[in-house]
Amino acid sequence: MPGTSVIGLQWGDEAKGKLVDLLAERLGVDIVVRYQGGANAGHTVVIGEETYKLHQIPSGVLTEGVMNLITPGVVFNPAVVLTEIAGLTSRGIPVSERLMISDRVHVVFPWHIAEDRAQNADKISGESIGTTLRGIGPCYRDKVGRVSAIRLGDMVGADFRQKIEQVVQLKQRALAGFAEAIEPAELDAERIYEQYRGYAEQLAPMVGDTTNYLLDALDEGRQVLFEGAQGAMLDIDHGTFPFVTSSNSSGVGVSAGSGVPARWIGKVLGVAKAYSTRVGGGPFPTEQDNETGQTIRDLGNEYGTTTGRPRRCGWFDAVAVRYAARLSGVDALSIMMMDVVSQLPEVKICVAYELDGRQIRIVPGRVEDWRRVRPVYETLPGWRKDVSQAKTMADLPPAAIAFLQRISQLVGCPVEVVSVGPARAQTLFVKDLAAAT
Ligand code: IMP
Ligand code: MG
Repeated sequence: MPGTSVIGLQWGDEAKGKLVDLLAERLGVDIVVRYQGGANAGHTVVIGEETYKLHQIPSGVLTEGVMNLITPGVVFNPAVVLTEIAGLTSRGIPVSERLMISDRVHVVFPWHIAEDRAQNADKISGESIGTTLRGIGPCYRDKVGRVSAIRLGDMVGADFRQKIEQVVQLKQRALAGFAEAIEPAELDAERIYEQYRGYAEQLAPMVGDTTNYLLDALDEGRQVLFEGAQGAMLDIDHGTFPFVTSSNSSGVGVSAGSGVPARWIGKVLGVAKAYSTRVGGGPFPTEQDNETGQTIRDLGNEYGTTTGRPRRCGWFDAVAVRYAARLSGVDALSIMMMDVVSQLPEVKICVAYELDGRQIRIVPGRVEDWRRVRPVYETLPGWRKDVSQAKTMADLPPAAIAFLQRISQLVGCPVEVVSVGPARAQTLFVKDLAAAT
């Protein structure tokens, strides 16, 4: 089966970018696909001395011979993409030859960013979502509402100017009460029209029908890697709603976002860190808002790629990851940041939640219950060894292997990849974890 997907099993930032870049090369992938989310993502790829931070362009762009697609489920920020193209091109990456953007992506406009900012202070039962302020939610809302939606293909239409004027009028009405949060330029129809017409001209050679391109490629047996953004626990339908993103960021989103039937996806690789992080508001049962959390943050450099915000840090949550893995149809796990937990005196794994005096191993549906669950931990001895130079599983201490085995057992999936640092070479491939001991 030619399709493989890479799905985050936590709240984003599981180091999917590293894995996608690596697999693109290792599996001899022909095509990498970004199919949901937008410039809220921040995927970091380290190659040799070079670090690349990608928000909108698929992480396969760094590999020669790989075609990168941005498919209809994405909300697309043309300014971000053009900036990324310029940055990568100046570093010798011929992006324009390697990138195709669907004419069906929904375009993020300045008013979406204004709306995101205007609503950022709004609280849902006492807490704000704390979005990345990239206009993601407002753009998806317009897509579902349809009346104010503009797709990339619309930007070359004869009525594009008229469309902008019409939407600006609607937005002026909708944002009337938020004057102080809005910059005049964000609702300046003429200016936005000129700006976006320019974007459309620059992007034109890269715009195409990714849906048919993909379906043809799969028919021909070409290898396709689907690059998830965010993580399953931020999925709009299946995550910790309403503290989620606005797209299907679990495995269920691949089909809808790319236009590829699920039966083409032969393998799903679930990515999780050896601990947990979350940015923004919302339930996080294993959060360590204490010295342990700060230690993890320092060791893992847990600050947002997109917003620079310090990430909330905590222990590995096997209840949430098991749920995310089942939901996403995960075949194997990739456990990242093993170098970080390798520095800790002991490590904990949340094996169940306690809710109203009962132990549960499934996630609650209501955010109020999510907030009330208490993690039940298993504590494992630490191994305090620098594993960043490990070349094979045999280089890991027995306690580290035991930790991975326990995760595998609790989540119900084999561990196939273990990452011990950001570089491509700092990756261990496991055939059989039991055999590694
Ligand atoms: P939005 O996607 O910007 O609307 O933000 C909604 C929630 O998802 C916020 O809690 C964000 O911090 C979180 N979020 C969005 N994108 C990412 C990501 O790529 N990594 C981690 N968290 C994210
Ligand atoms: Mg990220």
